[in-house]
Amino acid sequence: MSDELKRDAALWISTTGLRHWRGEDAKIYNRTESTPYKGLDKLFEEYKVYENDAFVDFGAGRGRTSFYVHDEFGIDVSGVELHELTFDELMKNEERYLRNKGLTSSNLYFEFGYAENYKIQPQDTIFYFFNPFASSIFQEVVENIQNSLEKNPRMADLILYYPENSFKRIMKKTKFKRIKTVRLPWKKDPKKKFIIYRYDPDNYSDELAE
Ligand SMILES: C[S@@+](CC[C@H](N)C(=O)[O-])C[C@H]1O[C@@H](n2cnc3c(N)ncnc32)[C@H](O)[C@@H]1O
Repeated sequence: MSDELKRDAALWISTTGLRHWRGEDAKIYNRTESTPYKGLDKLFEEYKVYENDAFVDFGAGRGRTSFYVHDEFGIDVSGVELHELTFDELMKNEERYLRNKGLTSSNLYFEFGYAENYKIQPQDTIFYFFNPFASSIFQEVVENIQNSLEKNPRMADLILYYPENSFKRIMKKTKFKRIKTVRLPWKKDPKKKFIIYRYDPDNYSDELAE
């Protein structure tokens, strides 16, 4: 059994394999593919999660990152996914994860639909993106996040896995500051890395951002 399958089995989930969008959709929505477990291990060796954090996965796929974070840290985790078949698999994974972990209720929340329509909650603090969609959609989601941070000021982080240049350009125009890069040296493709951005309302002034 491959390492990825073993890690899935430990969480009682099934998250391997790719699923592509068809036709016009494929131009703006990216395929389902889970973040590698080894990558998640490395990210969370170098990035600290606090008990009051709440994690949101935009384009949650089959839920690997969501279940990993929930299992490791026990914090609130939300995910939004647009592909019907993928969302069905996510729901099955949630059912098996909860049943086998003996959890009758949980602080996991999954929504079927558009990431750009997800209503950012005032407690949400970590926003995760594994290259889910076109930059025009990312721009909209980032605007939603920034509006929420302005309405309910709080420290918040945004994490990109496999960051596209267009996403990095959008982040440069926000109030987030790039604070860390977590590389995966065993991967040949240099895009297989995490970039972490932080919004700190106490350290932000418009002058500094100029
Ligand atoms: C690369 S997968 C990420 C999987 C997951 N985040 C993980 O880390 O394992 C990207 C997912 O985003 C979904 N997606 C694409 N466009 C979307 C949109 N507008 N709203 C919500 N999900 C979307 C795709 O269907 C796909 O499952």
